[in-house]
Amino acid sequence: MTNKIRTAILGMGVMGKRRRDAISRHGGFELVGTCDVVPGYDFTDWKECIDKTNPDAVFVCTINSVIPDIVCYAIEQGIHVFSEKPPGRNLADTLRMEDAYNTGNSILKFGFNHRYHNSIIEAKTLINSKLLGGVVCVRGIYGKAGNVDFTKEWRNNPELSGGGILLDQGIHMLDLMCWFLGDLTVEHGNVDRLVWRNMPTEDSAFAVLKTQDGKIASLHSSAIQWKHKFDMDIIFTDGYIALNGLLTGTRSYGEERITYYHKDLEIKDGKLGNPLEHTLCFDSDNSWDYETAEFFDAVRNGKPLVNGTIADAKRVMTLVESIYEQSR
Ligand SMILES: NC(=O)c1ccc[n+]([C@@H]2O[C@H](COP(=O)([O-])OP(=O)(O)OC[C@H]3O[C@@H](n4cnc5c(N)ncnc54)[C@H](O)[C@@H]3O)[C@@H](O)[C@H]2O)c1
Repeated sequence: MTNKIRTAILGMGVMGKRRRDAISRHGGFELVGTCDVVPGYDFTDWKECIDKTNPDAVFVCTINSVIPDIVCYAIEQGIHVFSEKPPGRNLADTLRMEDAYNTGNSILKFGFNHRYHNSIIEAKTLINSKLLGGVVCVRGIYGKAGNVDFTKEWRNNPELSGGGILLDQGIHMLDLMCWFLGDLTVEHGNVDRLVWRNMPTEDSAFAVLKTQDGKIASLHSSAIQWKHKFDMDIIFTDGYIALNGLLTGTRSYGEERITYYHKDLEIKDGKLGNPLEHTLCFDSDNSWDYETAEFFDAVRNGKPLVNGTIADAKRVMTLVESIYEQSR
């Protein structure tokens, strides 16, 4: 008898294939079914795929609008669920999944994979160590290049996606900000169509957020960067971290690196502001594997989930909704 987690993948686009590769590398999963509305997979109907293969777990990698129906149905069948972000198109979708989760007995994990990037893991470790003092503010920029068919993508059809660049990419940055700073509320939020003016979704999002004890985060999420960009600055009472670049399959966000320094207020050689800097560069993206391993350990070994919980999903979707709300 196999002790592997019998798994179906629903939605076999870019992420479905990426998850298929990750569960194959892990070795603890047995792929029992694949499904996509486009032909070429075991099933074209996700419900049929679940009913016929009766998996222990599903990976939900469809477009955003389909995610809540699959997640709720799978949980009702007692199946464990790994779902891509965003957790639905809006907070109402997330709350629907929360209800299903609360009445069921399944593990439910969402794919906020940025937490597993090596530079992010280093940053979180430095924050927890208090080596640089306490964090006081964070500023993040996440930018996309766009492409010729950008306005026609499902990501920019609000019926299918729920929103634009904020929900697509900004959500990852917001999740990291919450992870680094704690619970945030939106002080100021604005989304706009600065260039793709006829697109129904925003190409730019700006937000200033605050924790109850006064820590501040600022976000700029952009689909008009015309080049991929990921930058985050973390300012501490006694130092600083810069996160630059993010290793992805295409390597289009540049080399992934973390630079940090402790403040040095002394004048040296007549110069001020010249602290000793430490930089680490990473040449592999292990995020998908770490994330898969955490899901496996929760399902098979009963380990509590740390990342991508329903509480994380609700927290970040509350922020997203609030930013949209302030723009209306
Ligand atoms: N964690 C990350 O960093 C990350 C990165 C990219 C995308 N995503 C998320 O992953 C999801 C998929 O994104 P993608 O980039 O793979 O998009 P994609 O367009 O490449 O794939 C989506 C797939 O879902 C299929 N699909 C649509 N409706 C379906 C249905 N009813 N049943 C079965 N399949 C259906 C489509 O045919 C398509 O193949 C999205 O929710 C997206 O936000 C997460």
